[in-house]
Amino acid sequence: MGFTVIKGGTVVTAEGERRADVLIEGETVKAVGQNLDSPAGARVIDATGAYVLPGGIDPHTHMELPFMGTVASEDFFSGTSAAASGGTTTIIDFVIPDPKERLLDAYKKWRGWAEKSAADYSFHVAVTWWSDAVHEDMGTLTKEHGVNSFKHFMAYKNAIMCDDEVLVQSFSRARELGALATVHAENGELVFRLQKEIFERGITGPEGHPLSRPPEVEGEAANRAIRIAEVLGTPLYLVHTSCIDALEAVQRARMEGQRVFAEVLAQHLLIDDSVYRNTDWNHAAHYVMSPPFRSKEHQTALWRGLQAGILQTTATDHCCFCTPQKQAGVEDFRKIPNGTGGVEDRMGVLWHHGVRTGRLTPSEFVAVTSANAAKIFNIYPKKGTIAPGSDADIVVWDPDKTRTISAKTHHQNIDFNIYEGMTITGNAAVTLSRGSVLWENDQLKTEKGAGKHVDRPCFPEYWNAQALRNRHAEPTAVKREKPAVSK
Ligand code: URP
Ligand code: ZN
Ligand code: ZN
Repeated sequence: MGFTVIKGGTVVTAEGERRADVLIEGETVKAVGQNLDSPAGARVIDATGAYVLPGGIDPHTHMELPFMGTVASEDFFSGTSAAASGGTTTIIDFVIPDPKERLLDAYKKWRGWAEKSAADYSFHVAVTWWSDAVHEDMGTLTKEHGVNSFKHFMAYKNAIMCDDEVLVQSFSRARELGALATVHAENGELVFRLQKEIFERGITGPEGHPLSRPPEVEGEAANRAIRIAEVLGTPLYLVHTSCIDALEAVQRARMEGQRVFAEVLAQHLLIDDSVYRNTDWNHAAHYVMSPPFRSKEHQTALWRGLQAGILQTTATDHCCFCTPQKQAGVEDFRKIPNGTGGVEDRMGVLWHHGVRTGRLTPSEFVAVTSANAAKIFNIYPKKGTIAPGSDADIVVWDPDKTRTISAKTHHQNIDFNIYEGMTITGNAAVTLSRGSVLWENDQLKTEKGAGKHVDRPCFPEYWNAQALRNRHAEPTAVKREKPAVSK
């Protein structure tokens, strides 16, 4: 088993930063300390002047997702490779069964697709319908396949949307299994109605997309999911929180002691809704994703939510569609496949706009790009930190390296980049996944199939105790004499 030593850098974890070397044996961190000796024959990586960070975890991606009549253009190999070039070494993707499809069958299909991954991956499984078979498969997935989170789409009516009955059934089952319920919070019934009204008013272009999905639609669904979870005593995770309305619902619940977590996408922090009014249809269509980009006041609030810990994780919802795929909706914005890319750029744009602006410290950056996701999804400290015994998923991060983001130079399999032209300082110099170098000297060295599935056990220590405390007091009946019943 080979040794690698990363020498002379500043090691950053969510707990703090210190000058230290990192000794790796094979796939695992062996020691972190000052002036570590290099074993004979060890590979030495010089990290002088650089930060040494845990590899990023993107808890929300959709590689090769079949969606809205097409298939996302990024596959598990190209996607995990692009991720590695930007410092992300683990993705948590989504198995999305068709309504009536067995969860287990869908899960096996996705596991097959993911075998080509260059870096590690895990899966949330979506519950898109309800039956005894779904109840049973949730149990099998948690007990035998390392799944500890179930996703619920409250939008996408007539496709994968869950109604309240499904939410209640599935949240209850998740609680029983010690799994986390997650939601895409948008009221799909309202979206459906607003889409129709807007289209019938003659607004057929991409600008119709945000008009049909206003913040209230997200706020209502976020609050409903939170309240359902509260009544059932189920911990909850909101994906892609994009607006003040949802943020406030999360904040209120957390202030009440409820175990609610929330994710924000890098792009919702950095891009506003003016993109939908671009006169180039293709350009505007590339920003069609749900929830949509919001006005600047929402972006400011999201940054504050991240700083305040109301939002704990950052993700990308990486779901790529190339221009010809987006053009399926050229006559009707409702048919534009929803999704944007960004798995490659998340760490870089957050460092530039988060750390370099003083909004986040390097340790806070680690918390929101890896450690918190690792804790919430129960893969900490295997992932999300640099400590003896952890997987050697490590990024040597050059805080002075500048690049201008462009579709011409990115590694993502999509012909557009939502951050096109943005110059950022702070980038991955070397990326290691379980001790193997995937990215170095601006070159990818990824291998098909090198990534492994990461099992995620249920009942995470990180949130379970609190979840149990949130349970309502056991109801009791009142002892009383039966009244005389008058005839
Ligand atoms: O627009 C999006 N976000 N597409 C991917 C599916 C989802 O809603 O997460
Ligand atoms: Zn979603
Ligand atoms: Zn998504």
